[in-house]
Amino acid sequence: MNFDTPITIALSKGRIFEQTLPLLAHAGIVPSDDPETSRKLILGTNHPQVKLVIIRATDVPTYVQWGAADLGVAGKDVLLEHGGEGLYEPLDLGIARCRLMVAGVPAASLEGNRLRIATKYVESARRYFAARGQQVEIIKLYGSMELAPLVGLSDLIVDLVESGNTLKANGLVPLQHIADISSRLVVNKAAWKMKHATVMQLLDALREATARAA
Ligand code: PRP
Repeated sequence: MNFDTPITIALSKGRIFEQTLPLLAHAGIVPSDDPETSRKLILGTNHPQVKLVIIRATDVPTYVQWGAADLGVAGKDVLLEHGGEGLYEPLDLGIARCRLMVAGVPAASLEGNRLRIATKYVESARRYFAARGQQVEIIKLYGSMELAPLVGLSDLIVDLVESGNTLKANGLVPLQHIADISSRLVVNKAAWKMKHATVMQLLDALREATARAA
């Protein structure tokens, strides 16, 4: 692939990076460092015009929104919280799949007002319960949500469920499905216009790689 414009792609370490790597390889992009072993935050690639920035998953939409990165890969969970301002979301990459769910102890009830919901996904939780016409209290946490109902911090949690093992190990059960989650390609709206040819080239290659992997 021939990149005539400089392109910056925002990725987060771990699962998203690992699963995006083969898709980028299909587009002919190979990073020159491994973020798991390197402490560099800007990684070069085999293309002098293409660089990767390695940031927290929750920061990817922010970097892309402000144009600090032209493109990025972000989980739908993160995008639902961010709101998607300043971004296009042209492609579901079909990676890092899981579900956003309401969970609790097996006897937990979803009915009633003033339920306390512990979650990292405040906006999604608020929207979900508002759509059910329920007033709830949202308690913002940053991780280990499964603990909250066990120690009386909340009645329910809203969290990502993949295998269900974390819920099970803590005596919790999934109660309601909120959304299917997977990673999406996001593109800065100005870059979409200004770097159109390059963005389209990359988008086409990633779309083809995604279709092949499906
Ligand atoms: C996620 C999620 C659950 C777990 C679900 O946590 O928040 O805790 O994975 O996976 P499972 O259904 O396969 O057990 P993660 O490890 O990403 O860390 P976090 O608790 O900091 O969000």
